[in-house]
Amino acid sequence: MRPREQRVVVLTGAGISAESGLGTFRDAAGLWMQHDLAAVATPEGFARDPARVHDFYNARRSSARAAVPNVAHRALAHLGAVLGERLSLVTQNIDDLHEQAGSAGVLHMHGSIHAARCAACGHVWDAPDIMHPADPCPACGAAATRPDVVWFGEIPQHLDRIVAALEACDLFAAIGTSGSVYPAAGFVGLARAAGARTVEINLEPGDNARAFDARIAGPATRTVPAWVAGLIGD
Ligand code: APR
Repeated sequence: MRPREQRVVVLTGAGISAESGLGTFRDAAGLWMQHDLAAVATPEGFARDPARVHDFYNARRSSARAAVPNVAHRALAHLGAVLGERLSLVTQNIDDLHEQAGSAGVLHMHGSIHAARCAACGHVWDAPDIMHPADPCPACGAAATRPDVVWFGEIPQHLDRIVAALEACDLFAAIGTSGSVYPAAGFVGLARAAGARTVEINLEPGDNARAFDARIAGPATRTVPAWVAGLIGD
């Protein structure tokens, strides 16, 4: 099959945004080394102390708004321009650096730091820079606003579309993710079962590295542009 006819699914994780200055989670200085995951990234933590959760995401929103896409984000945007509908770009990241680089139709399976959601009525709107527990929902007025992100124990977004793309793909690439959180860590198994080739593009091998046919090691700003160029024959 000619490269440009391939159906490709790309999954990105925090590693693709690391060189844009955004923290990863499980690296040495990662966010889960600095914060108690249960307190700031679970529904129970939010119920217990919503102000602490908003403080955590307000800081991440500020960092995300200051960050700029790097050449890895831009390479994937170029891949999307070439493949069109044949590329499904799935991200675990809640930043919008893929969109800022020019990617469209990005499937944010863990939501977006730039959106707010009402826990009472489900209304979603553009998040202000700083959110507080007492902020009223613009639709129903309830003081029940939260970041529109997926916490541990909650169901990721767009799974039906993601699984359909995996089951029909010819190539699956996981970029900058530790392969430690499901269901994303299991996507490589779905792609393999569909007969796709699979490649892990990462700084360090992920927890599910053995499931991949191939591995490209190194920082995303070096590995991803080269991988995209090789894929589309630029
Ligand atoms: N280039 C490429 N990969 C990198 C770079 C880099 N410059 N820097 C770090 N990495 C890799 C690390 O080697 C690691 O494999 O990125 C990965 C980051 O792993 P995690 O910190 O676990 O981030 P991620 O896999 O995205 O986490 C998945 O867990 O906490 C939840 O919701 C959160 O979406 C997140 C999910």
